Amino acid sequence: MTGRHAPSLRELVDGATQLLREAGVGSPAHDARALAAFALGRERLVPGLDPDPDPGFAARFAALVERRRAREPLQRITGRTAFRYLDVPVADGVFVPRPETETVAEHAVGEARRVREAGRDAVVVDLCCGAGVIGASVALEVPGARVHAVDASPAAVDATRATAREARVALDVEVGDVRDAHLLAALDGAVDVVVANPPYIPPDAVPQDPEVRDHDPDLALYGGGADGLEVPRAVVDAAARLLRPGGLLVMEHAEVQAAAVRAELRAHGSFTQVTTDQDLTGRDRMVLARKAEQRASTGSDVEHSRS
Ligand SMILES: C[S@@+](CC[C@H](N)C(=O)[O-])C[C@H]1O[C@@H](n2cnc3c(N)ncnc32)[C@H](O)[C@@H]1O
Repeated sequence: MTGRHAPSLRELVDGATQLLREAGVGSPAHDARALAAFALGRERLVPGLDPDPDPGFAARFAALVERRRAREPLQRITGRTAFRYLDVPVADGVFVPRPETETVAEHAVGEARRVREAGRDAVVVDLCCGAGVIGASVALEVPGARVHAVDASPAAVDATRATAREARVALDVEVGDVRDAHLLAALDGAVDVVVANPPYIPPDAVPQDPEVRDHDPDLALYGGGADGLEVPRAVVDAAARLLRPGGLLVMEHAEVQAAAVRAELRAHGSFTQVTTDQDLTGRDRMVLARKAEQRASTGSDVEHSRS
């Protein structure tokens, strides 16, 4: 007898928390507990109700912690992430949905709901859909909404189909490029909401976090052009074509791009009521605009920006 006892779950989790903290992980205690739960096959650990780990747990847990220590994203290790009411599968080569985008989706859900409550069909288009979480949220939360989703990446389109299948919602999904002037042309002038979280990072703003830089696909990050706004501009053009008069565009962008994106929309001449909204941490992260009843002369729209 050596007198050494097998470490408790609590001791293993505390040790992992320390390792993850030293590796620069932003939320080490949360991630250590999430990985422990995953290794135990549980959804989560309940404080004070720690189960006794099985004999193979320590080795399984150590291997998972090692991956997180190397800054592999938690969601890619566990293969799942949460988004609003969805529990979403995370696929290789597909952008991992972020909490800030939940507010973008909230606007799309609210508008689609208002359209349905007015007794009309709600037609919603999710451009640059990635894993399809915005479109699937609208379809789940607004019964009767007709949702179309498009992404340039076949892997993302497959992921959107998986998200929709698991959420048991119907989405019309296709591979397409928002720069294609004929994308979804059958819906021209008939769409109530165009919602998008496009790529928007400029080429000289490579993300610092290894989780983003090394694990999200470049196609999902870099928006093109010196300012990163080439793809977002294409989203604006597509929205001007697809939306019915009075229809709503909601588009995510980086905090520093808020004024530039508003200026872009104002100069476009197809939009009115151009506003910026904040994410849950209070940062300017999305633009909202309504398709004008008539094309306005540039710069003459009533502007309601908050900054
Ligand atoms: C930041 S990710 C957002 C994914 C998803 N909307 C979300 O919020 O989780 C941007 C997505 O845009 C797609 N994308 C990039 N360029 C595109 C283009 N020209 N046309 C259509 N999709 C594009 C990428 O493949 C990626 O899935």
